[in-house]
Formats: sequence, C-alpha cells, structure tokens
Amino acid sequence: MWKSYFKDKVIIVTGASSGIGLASAKLFASLGARVSIASRSLDKLEALASELAANYGAEVLCVQTDVTVEEQCNNLIAKTLERFGHIDILVNNAGLSMRANFIDVNLDVLRRLMDVNFWGTVYCTKAALPHLLETKGTVAGVISIAGYSALPKRTGYSASKYAVRGFLDALRIEHLKDGLTVFAFAPNYVESNVRNAALTADGTPQGSTPLDEKGLMSADECALRFAKSLARRRTRQILTPLGKITCAGRQLIPHIDDRITYNYIMEREDSGSDARKN
Ligand SMILES: NC(=O)c1ccc[n+]([C@@H]2O[C@H](COP(=O)([O-])OP(=O)(O)OC[C@H]3O[C@@H](n4cnc5c(N)ncnc54)[C@H](OP(=O)(O)O)[C@@H]3O)[C@@H](O)[C@H]2O)c1
Repeated sequence: MWKSYFKDKVIIVTGASSGIGLASAKLFASLGARVSIASRSLDKLEALASELAANYGAEVLCVQTDVTVEEQCNNLIAKTLERFGHIDILVNNAGLSMRANFIDVNLDVLRRLMDVNFWGTVYCTKAALPHLLETKGTVAGVISIAGYSALPKRTGYSASKYAVRGFLDALRIEHLKDGLTVFAFAPNYVESNVRNAALTADGTPQGSTPLDEKGLMSADECALRFAKSLARRRTRQILTPLGKITCAGRQLIPHIDDRITYNYIMEREDSGSDARKN
C-alpha cells in the first residue's frame, strides 16, 4: 500500500506556503511523515504547521528559507537534521514563472527565475545529498511540461525548467548504483498562485491569472499523484495525457510543435487559451 511508505519518513518541502508544495506537505503529514517546510513566508508556514499538528498530530518543522540564498538552503538542511536526525526525501518545489516576450524583458527577471528555480534546487540538493545517500533516499524536483516543451513569453521559465531537468538527469546517472532515487515530476496546469506571482517584463508580479484556476487540476490531486509516484520510487513523470502528447510532440515533430505553440500562446495569450502547459 503506497500510503504506508510515508510513515515516519523525514521529508523536506520547499515552497510549502502555497499551491503544490502546501498540498504535498499536508498529504505527507496526514500519512505520518515528519515534514520540514520551507519558504520565505514564515507566518504561512507556522499557520500550516499548527493546522497539521492539530489535524494529524504531525511533527512539522518550519524553516524560513529563501532558496536563492545558499546559506539559507544549508540552514534548512542543517535544521532538519538537528530536529529529525536524518532525511529521506527532498522535494525541490519552490518556483516562480514569468509572462513577457524576451525582447521586452529586463534581464533581471531571467536571473531571478534561474536563481529560484535552478539554483534553489542546486543549493538544497548539494546540502542534502550526502545525507540522502546515507538513507538511500530521494531527490525530487517539481519541473513542468515547460521543462520538456518550451513556451513563448516564458523564456526564463522554460530555460530554468530545462536546466533543472538536465541537472536531475545527470545526478541520477552519477548515483545510479548508490540507491539514490532522483525524480523529475512534471505537472501540467495546476490550480495555484503561480500565475499571479509570475513576473512581467519589468519584474513586477502579474497579479492576476488569465486562466480559470478552478477549472485546472487541483493542487491536492497533483500532490496525490506526486506522492504515489514517490512511494513507487519513480524517476520521471509527466502529468495528464495532453502533457504527455505535448512533450512527445516537441521531441518527434518540433517544427510542427513550434507552430501549434505559437498559435496557442503568441496569438491568444490574453484569452487564457494557453492552458496546454505552464
Ligand atoms: N501550478 C502550475 O500550473 C504548475 C505547473 C507545472 C509546474 N509547476 C511548478 O510547481 C512548483 C510549485 O508552484 P505552484 O504552482 O504551487 O506555485 P505557487 O502557488 O506560486 O507556490 C510557489 C511556492 O514557491 C515559493 N517560493 C517562491 N520563491 C521562493 C524563494 N525565493 N524561496 C523560497 N520559496 C520560494 C513560494 O513561497 P513564498 O512566496 O512564501 O516564498 C510558494 O510557496 C513550481 O516549481 C512551479 O514551477 C506549477
């Protein structure tokens, strides 16, 4: 039974204050895991920890962490070890998106996305890796369909997610014989705050979403699929049939996929009809 896999596991979740990370932390705690939750918003983490303690008697550690700062990622791993003694699973989930054509964008936006999405994953993984090797544990990265099939108006997002996928794939091969599992999890569109927080050309958040968030896969459903795959020690997963087709199309017929993606996003962005990928 996959649920019993999580009993007493020590799991770190970055970006646990919202969306997929929050739903995953809740699910892990409800299944008996000891969870270390991280993000910049300590108030939200503490509210979540209280809720999980009250509902499940869960042991939850809150560590305020900006994943773009290496020392804070080191601190997250150190505090988790101090409290729980070991680490079984690291979930690199903290993430940020964008909405702007490259010609218009301030390059600080791309630097910021690489800092959060790529370097945040690298810093946390570097600090946790020796400890995950001891437990033959799992490094997971929440990438995106955009980590397989690039999107216009998200040059920095696509590049950062391709980079994380490359990083995870190379890491998996380096440790193929060590018992470490390296899992690249690619959701399609999921209800969350990611589109509100997405940076526009000048670096300010978009502050709204072009999609009907309630019509998307819920963060709880996404977390459930993620957890089942973690328990099965999967190494790759692309969510939804459309997500799989999109990724396959990019590989097999890239010139046609360019045109389909152009039509979906470049010409119809404001309509919200870009719901194929994030
Ligand atoms: N939702 C989707 O449609 C979708 C699809 C595919 C992939 N994804 C990926 O899923 C992951 C989670 O996104 P979400 O959709 O759940 O978005 P979300 O609701 O906006 O949550 C993003 C989380 O990342 C944290 N975060 C952002 N910058 C951070 C930083 N510098 N340091 C630490 N934490 C930071 C945020 O916390 P604070 O603001 O409190 O720091 C928040 O908890 C991301 O990697 C995203 O790219 C999402």
